[in-house]
Amino acid sequence: MAATQAFLAVGSNLGDRAAHLQRAVQRLQQVPGITVVRHSTWIESEPVGNGPPQGKYLNGVVEVRTMLSAMALLAIGKALEAEAGRELPGKHHHPRPLDIDLVFFGDQRIDRRDLCVPHRQWHLRSFVTGPLQELGVDTAPQFRWQPPELIETTGALAARTADWLAGDCTIGLVPTMGSLHAGHRSLIEIARAECDRVVATIFVHPLQFGPNEDFAAYPRDLEKDLALCRDGGADAVFAPSVAQMYDPAFCSHVAVGAAAEGMEGALRPGHFSGVATVVARLFALSRPHRAYFGEKDAQQLAVVRRMSKDLGFPLRIVGCPIVREADGLAMSSRNVYLGAEDRKAATVLHRAMASACAQFARGERDRDRLLARVQAVLATEPRATVDYVELRGRDDLAPLPPGPVLAGRLLVAAKFVDGKRPVRLLDNMALDAGASA
Ligand code: PAJ
Repeated sequence: MAATQAFLAVGSNLGDRAAHLQRAVQRLQQVPGITVVRHSTWIESEPVGNGPPQGKYLNGVVEVRTMLSAMALLAIGKALEAEAGRELPGKHHHPRPLDIDLVFFGDQRIDRRDLCVPHRQWHLRSFVTGPLQELGVDTAPQFRWQPPELIETTGALAARTADWLAGDCTIGLVPTMGSLHAGHRSLIEIARAECDRVVATIFVHPLQFGPNEDFAAYPRDLEKDLALCRDGGADAVFAPSVAQMYDPAFCSHVAVGAAAEGMEGALRPGHFSGVATVVARLFALSRPHRAYFGEKDAQQLAVVRRMSKDLGFPLRIVGCPIVREADGLAMSSRNVYLGAEDRKAATVLHRAMASACAQFARGERDRDRLLARVQAVLATEPRATVDYVELRGRDDLAPLPPGPVLAGRLLVAAKFVDGKRPVRLLDNMALDAGASA
């Protein structure tokens, strides 16, 4: 078996920095299966990140040839860090006597929770690129991670997530239909904070649009969406064609029950069966640990929670708060179609629910009086054609009987027709003891 050429970035900013680096080189040389070929000169650099005040680093790059695996070489690096007196696991961006990162391991690409090779940030760090250049190493862009990776086939999605699972990564899934805005981005950011790997999906899904709905006209802009996914921190974006998702013989659908009754379910027959079908398919393909959905589409969230439980998907559904424009309008991909006057008028949804919320905070508990409050504010806006106003169970959205309400959720849908095309807007707001406008 041939030896693998590998490059290690070494650094120290505690104690006798040069002695720590020199000793690391000597100790590497003593490990059976590792030959140190050479190292760069040691250079000084400022610490990166937002750690406490600390001294400058001394950095360099060491070239080795090794018969060990990348994981074994990583373990040796960790052992040498501990030997130099570093506390492990160490705190991010805190001073350390020795830091050893694996930058390249032959031409291997490894994407594990505990090891990414090439190192994810090597090209952003001049204290790595400088020494690499000094050693004459090819620092061409093909060795960089440039997330998000665009995945267009179901097979490639299943393979990528299988790799992540084999590498011990937790996976977060963020299903969308594209035309992304700050609401979608917040879902990606929450997933980023909670999971090792994040895949966003962009698929305008024909099965969840009715015959007279806006499937063909749904706004699409993949380049812009990819940039937003990158900025939000997605590792991959799955954007398949309809043919990729559904082969011509496709004929199995998820039937949905009580959670899909009333409200959107009543106005858009078949819609939630379509949503549940595509979401179940995405769960099966990507096998995430967590899947992120907006509370903005509260009934969809309730349907997905129920479906996931009923079909036994081993994952957690995470509901994420509604992101609003500065004037209270809930962000939506369809807002771009509102005419200027309708855009102003559309804040009435938020204002109407906030008004009932304020009443609730002042002690009003009667279901019908709270609903009447929402209706009354909506009635002040002639541009809004109201589809429904409901007050239901806060999370399961179960219908509530008349009488006192301890906690619940107001849900509103209304049409605005003066823009480039008619737009239906949905919004909702939780009523509970801590509720405020
Ligand atoms: P889409 O309308 O693109 O929404 C994708 C996700 O973003 C949904 O979970 C939605 O609730 C969330 N979202 C939208 N606007 C939001 C806002 N202002 N604040 C917070 N979250 C928001 O919903 C769908 O796509 C589809 O039905 C899908 C689940 C992808 C299945 O096709």
